[in-house]
Amino acid sequence: MLVGAGGHAKVVIEVARAQGRFEIVGVVDPRPPGPRVLGVPVLGGDEALPRLRADGVAWAFVALGGNALRERIGGELRAAGFRLATLVHPSAEVMPSATVGEGAVVMARVAVSAEARVDDLAILNTGAVVEHDNLIGAAAHVAPLAALAGNVRVGARALIGVGSAVRPGVSVGADAVVGAGAAVVADVPAGATVGGVPARPLRARGGAAAR
Ligand SMILES: CC(C)(COP(=O)(O)OP(=O)(O)OC[C@H]1O[C@@H](n2cnc3c(N)ncnc32)[C@H](O)[C@@H]1OP(=O)(O)O)[C@@H](O)C(=O)NCCC(=O)NCCS
Repeated sequence: MLVGAGGHAKVVIEVARAQGRFEIVGVVDPRPPGPRVLGVPVLGGDEALPRLRADGVAWAFVALGGNALRERIGGELRAAGFRLATLVHPSAEVMPSATVGEGAVVMARVAVSAEARVDDLAILNTGAVVEHDNLIGAAAHVAPLAALAGNVRVGARALIGVGSAVRPGVSVGADAVVGAGAAVVADVPAGATVGGVPARPLRARGGAAAR
């Protein structure tokens, strides 16, 4: 059972189907865009969860792109007795010494290298490179084609933007945002938003710090 019926859920459904380990019985979303997502029926909003668990649905997956929301819903599903599935596309290369947590998804053509650790509920999006000894925190999101060199640490719920690059050994703090196409060459404080080449703190259009 998936929570979330948006664009991210579509990709998650394709990954789960390609992996072939789970049968998807339905999607739960209080405001779905339609009655089905890639042919998977929408079963209702959050009120459907206890019935699904009672009917024997044991595994759940949070298919929501928002990091804090995904973390919160993941905790609620566990408290309701669900186990969180780990989804890995067959075209991804996850080295044997790497680990991927529960509720995490590894999309198509991702590379996860030696002794990297990917914590629960993280997203490694299409084509991302997570090099050796990386630590990807819980509910973090490494966006498509982002490249993390060796020994990078990404804090919980951080977003590493599409196509960005992170220099070896850099730490990105919890809840930080790395903008699309950035080159991160120094540590990023928790909660900061950075962008550019080399990455600097970004300012919102009003002139205040973006985050
Ligand atoms: C960094 C980011 C979060 C900022 O978003 P935002 O707060 O809405 O910022 P705005 O679009 O209002 O832009 C604010 C300023 O930052 C600049 N800026 C925005 N994104 C930037 C980026 N990636 N690199 C460099 N500068 C950027 C804008 O040009 C603007 O500058 P200006 O005031 O001189 O015109 C966003 O642009 C971004 O890159 N998100 C990554 C999304 C992503 O990869 N998602 C993964 C989906 S799978």
